Amino acid sequence: MIKISNKKESTTQKIFLFAEDDWQQEKSDYPNMNHFFNGKTNEVFVKTDASQIQFFLGIGKEPKGYEIQGIASKFSNDYKKNLQALPTSVHSKLGLDATEDFIKGLFLGTYCYPFEKSHPFWQENFELNFENISEEEAQNLALKTEALCNGQFAGMEWLNKPANHKKVAQISEFLKTTAEKYDLDYKVLSREESAKEGLGAFVAVNQGSSQEAAFTILQYKSGKENAKTIGLVGKCVLFDTGGISIKPASNLHYMKSDLGGACAVIGALITASELKLPVNIVAILPITDNAVSEKAYLPSDVVTAYNGKTIEVLNTDAEGRMTLADGLSYLSKNYETDVLIDLATLTGSAVRMFGYTCGAYFSNNENLKGKLEKSADKTNQRLWNLPLWDVWKDDFASDVADFKNISMKPFGDCIVAAKFLEQFIEGHQNWAHLDIAGVAFGDVAYAKDKAATGYGVQLLLDFMENYQ
Ligand code: BES
Ligand code: MG
Ligand code: ZN
Repeated sequence: MIKISNKKESTTQKIFLFAEDDWQQEKSDYPNMNHFFNGKTNEVFVKTDASQIQFFLGIGKEPKGYEIQGIASKFSNDYKKNLQALPTSVHSKLGLDATEDFIKGLFLGTYCYPFEKSHPFWQENFELNFENISEEEAQNLALKTEALCNGQFAGMEWLNKPANHKKVAQISEFLKTTAEKYDLDYKVLSREESAKEGLGAFVAVNQGSSQEAAFTILQYKSGKENAKTIGLVGKCVLFDTGGISIKPASNLHYMKSDLGGACAVIGALITASELKLPVNIVAILPITDNAVSEKAYLPSDVVTAYNGKTIEVLNTDAEGRMTLADGLSYLSKNYETDVLIDLATLTGSAVRMFGYTCGAYFSNNENLKGKLEKSADKTNQRLWNLPLWDVWKDDFASDVADFKNISMKPFGDCIVAAKFLEQFIEGHQNWAHLDIAGVAFGDVAYAKDKAATGYGVQLLLDFMENYQ
């Protein structure tokens, strides 16, 4: 449990937050530190004596909210071995919003895989004491931070798990328990049920697997009158071998991360439920792996998607757009939503285009673009818009079906994939597709190899908090 209080009393562990300018004004109160600390971004000076340990943390000049979060999370990650599970007073001049960012960063920065609450921050006797916020504000920040950590860590945990620990049955068990805990509606369609429903594109991906399919629908209902309903679809390919169009062996282990879209959705759903956000959420996670076997779907197969369109499969490694196509049209046909957003680790093309700096996003609604970019900029979970021009549709015209699942041209696959998905939104006028292949899984402070970044959770939450 996160404990935050308004208290004045002196503690044996202290954190001093200083912007450069404030430090200049106050440094005379801290003798003998002149040369050791200037308040620059990410600067840390640790001072101990027999009775106290003091951490001086620099936040630079006029940091933005996400920069404060970043500084705090780097600090808690770097110093988690030094910080004790003790009441800790924080000396700071930050306003309420910046304090919220500081606290969120501090706790998010404690994450490591696997997440065990053994870290001092998560023990009973840890408490953060602030003088500059009221007791009521302190309680509120504790709840908000805990809700965010519970959501984001759950998503990161599933992304980081090795392939043999995230089988369909295991993640389904987790989702079912989560639904019970937060009173969400939970529905799942097996392979047979999905086939019966007509989810032909999704079933094609799953048919080569020894594991069941789990086309999962989760619903959070706020109970608030006139609440907007947000539709979310998250790509949830538990391991992407490429299928019969098999991927090369180098870096294949990274394909355990092909559920980054689903993890962002799961995280946002958990946090939104804990915060009791005044919106409704319908989330679809078409869960499967993309396996190689005798039963696997083959290049040249023609399958019928949920909306009746036929797809010629020319590359079984373009499986994400198959599962999302059915996820999107199922959501669009069966639920009334004000906005429809899908998130997916969809293409290597998006990674080659933007590296690890931002997600590529596509939308058919200018207003929605503005809202998404605002949340993306604010949370520093960046997005950059790419076109949905009709000329791209020609690239996946098929001789034997309505569409091919790939273009034969060696460029623009993230645009092709987006344009392909647009064929399955059933006329939804407020849709966005987020290709997060480059940003969901990558270099992180808490691990040596690539791991979950938590991308998307704060982005979706900020978007939903401000959506009306
Ligand atoms: N899961 C991959 C996309 C991906 C690539 C995610 C790199 C994260 C990092 C997706 O299913 C895929 O294999 N896409 C292919 C599509 C191609 C066959 C048209 C790709 O991008 O190479
Ligand atoms: Mg693939
Ligand atoms: Zn994939």
